[in-house]
Amino acid sequence: MPNSTSTPVLPVPRLKGRRLFGNTLDFKKDRLELFQRTFAECGDIGIYTIAGQDCYLVNSIELCHEILIQNGSLFEKTDRFRSFARPLLGDGLLTATNEEHKRNRRLIQPRFRTAVVRHSADITAQVSRAVVAGWKDGDVIDVRREMVRLVLGVVGQNLFSRDILDEANDLGNALTDAIHGFDSQASALIPLTIEWPTPANLRYRKAIERLESTFHAFLAERRALADKPDDWLTLLLECAYDDGTALSDQQIRDEALNMFMPGHETTATALTWSLHLLSRHPECHERLMAESDRVLAGRPATGADLERLPYALQVFKEAMRLYPPVYMFSRQATTDVEVGGHRIPAGASVVFSPYALHRRADYFPDPERFDPDRFESEREAELPRHAYMPFGAGHRVCIGNHHALLGGQVALATLAGQAHLTSVPGPSPVMEPMVTLRPAGNLLMKVTRRSPVPAVPTAPNPSANGATAPRGCPYAH
Ligand code: HEM
Repeated sequence: MPNSTSTPVLPVPRLKGRRLFGNTLDFKKDRLELFQRTFAECGDIGIYTIAGQDCYLVNSIELCHEILIQNGSLFEKTDRFRSFARPLLGDGLLTATNEEHKRNRRLIQPRFRTAVVRHSADITAQVSRAVVAGWKDGDVIDVRREMVRLVLGVVGQNLFSRDILDEANDLGNALTDAIHGFDSQASALIPLTIEWPTPANLRYRKAIERLESTFHAFLAERRALADKPDDWLTLLLECAYDDGTALSDQQIRDEALNMFMPGHETTATALTWSLHLLSRHPECHERLMAESDRVLAGRPATGADLERLPYALQVFKEAMRLYPPVYMFSRQATTDVEVGGHRIPAGASVVFSPYALHRRADYFPDPERFDPDRFESEREAELPRHAYMPFGAGHRVCIGNHHALLGGQVALATLAGQAHLTSVPGPSPVMEPMVTLRPAGNLLMKVTRRSPVPAVPTAPNPSANGATAPRGCPYAH
């Protein structure tokens, strides 16, 4: 609620830092450790300082609820986020102000949910099988690279009905270059806005220009098609406001990139960590392979199988608890706001860290332990609300959350049926918190191809074959 002068205001504890730089160097060196230290030393809310700016780290379910849900309209995306993201993402859902966001999310969300469940499982299973088909028995693969390929393949089909990986000098290349530019802007400690003529910025600008012209040509081609494929681009083309106005080409470009950009890197990262964790926990891996063999018997998964692959979903969720791809996100207070008795001043940055939240022992006992059974349905129902927040919360919660969970579940079940991946000797991967929480460098694993014994497949559940989310939706979180 906005600050009331009549109630006493509790001070917000401040993390110790250096006189001149505050916590800037700590953030640069190891921001995950900084978040956890802020929580350990300051509690549910604490201030750390970056480049002279106070950042309020919020790390309790009550405060997350107060800020993101009860007072969501009083907090916008930060100026910093908008300044580096808007050149690429325009005014799409991720970057829009609350006012623009409300109008467009209401328009896009209902159609998006249905389309997602209808097609994504089949596409993900097919692309996963195509990726595994390129692995030979005994190969050592870079799992991160392979998961990025897999997810790009899925997103390209979902969004554009295209194999963007195979389109040399076209959309795929322009997108990949733009992603690199976005990544370096997003992870710069003190970013120079895109107007500064640094070599990295010039490359980023060029990539965006190429992307723009390729995308607009592609959109014109799609508009001219009488028989449009059933994908997210067609869905955006068909969206219309209450007065009948359709989205402009610029809006479609912005929203399409808003689905592409946050959608692929996050999901690929989550799959990579899932496979890493499985390789270090053979008993969990065995259980996943057994589930895949029992339900799929080597065939690709479909939407009708989802309810019978619960363990694959549990593994994916638990991997995102330990390694949430979006390990931090932030807001800026538009006015003085009082939360939990503390005052957050207008203009202050508020930081949420799913990484730190997911490691609170009072929410997740023995938090460092990989235990997919935490997400077994009855136990998951007992988790405190908002303790698990890989997709954010409130009116700006990830619009692709169901799609991401479904994609992770289907990809893991399909991969487990086709290949057994084991880690090669070497040190454990190190976390590299860039735009997402990825493993630094390559993540190598050895492939053993599997030919699951065809089991007597259990009958698919006809009620889950696509038109709506599966019954007792396992994607609730
Ligand atoms: C494991 C995969 C994913 C993770 C961990 C993830 C995480 C997140 C998070 C934390 C947010 C909220 C950010 C904030 O509040 O500032 C978000 C927003 C968003 N995500 Fe995802 N995401 C994933 C997959 C996807 C996919 C597949 C799509 C494709 C449609 C997508 C599209 C979006 C969009 C458009 C927003 C902005 C929503 C809005 O403000 O209305 N994400 N995502």
